[in-house]
Amino acid sequence: MPDPHKISVSILSADFTRLGEQIAEAEAAGADWIHVDVMDGHFVPNLTMGPFIVEACRRATQLPLDVHLMVEAPERLIQAFAQAGATYLTVHVENNPNLYRTMQAICELGCKPGVVLNPGTPASTVFPVLPLADMVLVMSVNPGYSGQKFIPAVLPKVTELSQAIQRINPQTLLEIDGGMNIDTLPQARSAGAQVFVAANAIFNHPQGITAGIQALRGCI
Ligand code: DX5
Ligand code: ZN
Repeated sequence: MPDPHKISVSILSADFTRLGEQIAEAEAAGADWIHVDVMDGHFVPNLTMGPFIVEACRRATQLPLDVHLMVEAPERLIQAFAQAGATYLTVHVENNPNLYRTMQAICELGCKPGVVLNPGTPASTVFPVLPLADMVLVMSVNPGYSGQKFIPAVLPKVTELSQAIQRINPQTLLEIDGGMNIDTLPQARSAGAQVFVAANAIFNHPQGITAGIQALRGCI
């Protein structure tokens, strides 16, 4: 069975004047996925990237594109991101009264649906949609910005979700996002996380992107 542990490189801390080059360097250094943080200035205070950037990433790499939608009413936008080349489309449980329907629509568009929980959202909120989920993402910072400090209080939730996934749908991957570095990644891994999103620890590593990825890989 292939190792489920993966590094998803968040381009939120990339140098956007050289995005293609930086993605190519991340891929050569062993990145597994490219993580794209979509923020609308409403669901979270920050405003970032849309389908144009996903489409540019799609041309820059063959790696899976892990698109994290931090937006109000994500169902309005999923078609545009699917057409832009997203592999995973991950939607928040907090702002989505029609979560099951949105995830079905993501499947129908040919993408893999993920569901994401903020630090204060209980694990049980995603249990009903686990049969449909290719991935569950646990936020380990408040969504909105890279470079924030890891919130260790989410670790018991990671373990609770890991156990629920084993029971309900063992195919589902468990991802964690926020404040990952060489100290926090091993804690998240021990708690049961399999996919580790990182921006700051990679793009702001003093020795560069390759060293940043290698340092995190060394913890897996
Ligand atoms: C935060 C984003 C994260 C962010 C992680 O809202 O969802 O993906 O880029 O950044 P670091 O790794 O710097 O915490
Ligand atoms: Zn993210």
